[in-house]
Amino acid sequence: MSDNKKPLCLSGKGVTKIFGFGDKKTVAVDHVDFEFHEGELISIVGESGSGKTTLAKMLLGLTSISEGQIFYQDKLRDISTHKKKKEYWKNIQAIFQDPFSSYNVFSKIDTVLLDCINMRGGRFLPMEKKIEMMTEACSFVNLKFAELTKKYPFELSGGQMQRLMIARIFLLKPKILLADEPTSMIDACSRATILDMLLNLRNEIGMTIIFITHDIGLAYYISDKVYIMEHGRFVESGTADEVILTPAANYTKRLISDVPKIYEEWDLSTV
Ligand SMILES: Nc1ncnc2c1ncn2[C@@H]1O[C@H](COP(=O)(O)OP(=O)(O)OP(=O)(O)O)[C@@H](O)[C@H]1O
Ligand SMILES: [Mg+2]
Repeated sequence: MSDNKKPLCLSGKGVTKIFGFGDKKTVAVDHVDFEFHEGELISIVGESGSGKTTLAKMLLGLTSISEGQIFYQDKLRDISTHKKKKEYWKNIQAIFQDPFSSYNVFSKIDTVLLDCINMRGGRFLPMEKKIEMMTEACSFVNLKFAELTKKYPFELSGGQMQRLMIARIFLLKPKILLADEPTSMIDACSRATILDMLLNLRNEIGMTIIFITHDIGLAYYISDKVYIMEHGRFVESGTADEVILTPAANYTKRLISDVPKIYEEWDLSTV
């Protein structure tokens, strides 16, 4: 379990996103405050439409913030120029719900991976070294680099594609990884494998993981901190134990009651 003495990695005050105007106005994220510390695994849990992906896009700087501020390492985040944005993206990377949207369809897989090495300052490394790094990244996620090199991302299965995304993270070694339901497209067995890979990667490079999910049971088992999101607001946050074993908000209680397994497993561990 992490403690609050760890340095702040990413934090926000009053972060808000409003889409549209007048009758068509949607407040997707409504004045949320948060403090994510280095090395923590934070889950953001909420039902469909609660604003999770919108918040993720603001954290990544892919969509503008309507109100409020985001701080990176305790300083107001500045991504006002393309150059500053590129610099910021060295520190924060994402795995999205739909892996097909994450790649340039015209890039072969070796290009996708080479770009990661170049981004981390490896542009002038000898080609053999680059191949060694790509092979290592692929084998970390149980993919064979030699079989992938001439393929395009759309020629992979959903599960392979998600593993390729993790291979990219392995090469990019960001400080923060934002994972928006990375397991939604795959079966339960691959889901466990992918989660395992993410957790290994976290141990390997010590990154902060922000994990977005509907599944409060899963959040309980993997997280240090949990934020519960309802209609664009955080209705509750704290350590996984605080939030899930002693929930205060009715919404949290309802989410938990949908997963009786949490209590069963807890009972087992207390006898
Ligand atoms: N580009 C957009 N324009 C207008 N409204 C949007 C846009 N993107 C999201 N919204 C609205 O904002 C709200 C939050 O959407 P968001 O995608 O963040 O939810 P979510 O929690 O990620 O849901 P899910 O669990 O289904 O992925 C929804 O009401 C959605 O319709
Ligand atoms: Mg979403």
